[in-house]
Amino acid sequence: GAGSSSSSVLAGRRVVISAGGTREPLDPVRFLGNRSSGRQGVALARAALDRGAKVTLVSGSIEVAPPPEADLVRVETALQMRDAMTEAVRDADVVVMAAAVADFRPSEVARHKIKKTVDDEDAPVVTLVRNPDILAGLVAARRPGQVVVGFAAETGDDTGTALEHATAKLARKGCDLLVLNDVSAGKVFGKDDTEVVVLAADGTVTPVPPGSKERVAEAIWDAVLPLVNQDG
Ligand code: CTP
Ligand code: CA
Repeated sequence: GAGSSSSSVLAGRRVVISAGGTREPLDPVRFLGNRSSGRQGVALARAALDRGAKVTLVSGSIEVAPPPEADLVRVETALQMRDAMTEAVRDADVVVMAAAVADFRPSEVARHKIKKTVDDEDAPVVTLVRNPDILAGLVAARRPGQVVVGFAAETGDDTGTALEHATAKLARKGCDLLVLNDVSAGKVFGKDDTEVVVLAADGTVTPVPPGSKERVAEAIWDAVLPLVNQDG
């Protein structure tokens, strides 16, 4: 109701957060991966727990410890993350896709370790196929009142600014909020400090002051709260 304080909005709410990078196998010992540390997703999970939410963390490869109070679902590939998220979000009030999902995976996974041949200098060619867009799928299947938050790391280029790219991505994905990391300066992955802008589907643009990923996580939750249905 109108009288409840913002700090209690998440109390008892079910929050599902994806974090970290996916790993797409090439053979039993090799994968295609990315530099996501999982710090922002883990910070979001911890902040939601602090606010009384029940948190499920669907985690790819992360370099930080997940909060022990979260329900942890470990995944490796984008396909596994899609399946785990689809299952986890069924009764969720808020869904946050903070993971760095590989857009492509090797079309085939070699059953044995790929060997180089002794007698020639040929190198294998890796063919990739598209992974499903997990966020778009969650938006399409969401239950009434469920808030869906996406992330985007963007750089400005000849076709537009980072903000323009993110605005187009928000519309394309159909989520309620998109958290934009402008990575033009190239100093986000694995670092402690970050700076984001939160874009809302209604066109609102909320810059978040630069700070630790923990502080930024608090600011992101502050932006999510007004969208969360207070009546359950
Ligand atoms: N995402 C996802 N599934 C994918 C790729 C991305 O759910 N296969 C999610 C990310 O977790 C993030 C959002 O979509 O919340 C935006 O990811 P991003 O990589 O910026 O968007 P893409 O649609 O993959 O576009 P791009 O070509 O710019 O990488
Ligand atoms: Ca992508």
